[in-house]
Amino acid sequence: MTDKATLTIGDKSYDLPILKGSTGPDVVDVRKFYGDSDHFTFDPGFTSTASCESKITFIDGDAGILLHRGYPIGQLAEESSFLEVCHLLLNGELPSADEFTKFERNITYHTMLHAQFDTFFQGFRRDAHPMAVMTGAVGALSAFYADSLNVDDPKQREISAHRLIAKMPTIAARAFQYSQGRPFVTPRNELSYSENFLRMCFSVPAEDWVPNPVLTRAMDRIFILHADHEQNASTSTVRLAGSSGAHPFACIAAGIACLWGPSHGGANQEALEMLEEIGTVENIPAFVQGVKDKKYKLMGFGHRVYKNFDPRATVMQKTCYEVLEQLGINDPLLHVAMELEKVALSDPYFIDRKLYPNIDFYSGITLRAMGFPKEMFTVLFALARTVGWISQWKEMFEDPSRKIGRPRQLYTGATQRDYVPVDKRG
Ligand code: ACO
Repeated sequence: MTDKATLTIGDKSYDLPILKGSTGPDVVDVRKFYGDSDHFTFDPGFTSTASCESKITFIDGDAGILLHRGYPIGQLAEESSFLEVCHLLLNGELPSADEFTKFERNITYHTMLHAQFDTFFQGFRRDAHPMAVMTGAVGALSAFYADSLNVDDPKQREISAHRLIAKMPTIAARAFQYSQGRPFVTPRNELSYSENFLRMCFSVPAEDWVPNPVLTRAMDRIFILHADHEQNASTSTVRLAGSSGAHPFACIAAGIACLWGPSHGGANQEALEMLEEIGTVENIPAFVQGVKDKKYKLMGFGHRVYKNFDPRATVMQKTCYEVLEQLGINDPLLHVAMELEKVALSDPYFIDRKLYPNIDFYSGITLRAMGFPKEMFTVLFALARTVGWISQWKEMFEDPSRKIGRPRQLYTGATQRDYVPVDKRG
């Protein structure tokens, strides 16, 4: 056991402290390295760099473990509720019965949007991607809730966090209803978080909306599975944006923008499109060959951190079967997905690279069965991830050693040269 690493450059050696977490790999502390040695460390993509200290989520990618505040994701998805997980992520502990009642009430009574906010949606084209609407609408929250923008006031930080968790379903449902040309549905306080969301998405004035407990449970579980995932690209975006002191509505809008990318949250839409493109199991071998020839990627497969099964994918697959069974749907794409998974998991290309299905592989089929168009998949991800983003943002703000994020670079451009007037350039 050692508590320092030694790095030698030329004839000089530098001692670097080794920091220990409560679990997971030790960390070499390079904070003073540049000052001492005049060298940067180089790590594009942060494959070996911890960008912060955190107590929220732990992943062991080799073992396929995901813990929120110490609790395994499988247990939370099976036994808890999304709002309970929100309390856990945000405040560090599962709530007592009284704490939960208070928390649920707080969230419930923040679900409505300012009436003028509804007119804001009218500015978007009906065929706008709902993620484009989400990015704009969430950023615009700061124009409507300016009384909770002081990031140095813990009470205002808490109110903003509650507002974001509460209003995201209302905004997401409006983005969906707007794209369908249907009227907006006002939230109902007697409904649970997930039931309320489904009602705001699918009810129409022409008939009564009938809740389906299996679908409500599936929605809640999907939200739990997406609630947080350590320092991924969008969470790091939220932290970096927040490190400048930016208010949470701006930071979460930045996180949503980052999430939209196909390598991140946009992969659930792309995974479903890929299954549609494959169409039938007979086409799988040719498609897999194209993946191996590096013409395209197998969407919903592979992960930067998991080099084993994504534990969320296991729960997602089970939820997928439950939803299809409840709705009596025999989706041919499920057969394509199952066969594709089998083929990929027995192929040396995927085995050697430790490529396993991630959460997005089965989420698209499930959400499609529930009635969501594929453009909404990443929106649902953003809705659920908002609690993770805001919990990480809050943790960063509460850290007295917080510094503005400022990565450095390995510069390989032109060195200093003199300006040449245009008539003298060759
Ligand atoms: N299909 C085919 N090959 C793949 C895939 C894939 N999905 N993912 C990685 N590989 C290959 C790479 O081509 C590379 O091969 P090589 O060694 O021959 O060059 C090797 O596996 C390592 O891949 P990297 O790109 O270095 O892995 P990285 O950790 O950077 O990428 C990522 C992770 C972006 C998730 C990648 O696996 C991917 O693009 N997957 C598809 C998109 C996807 O499903 N994203 C969702 C992630 S989960 C989430 O955000 C909720």
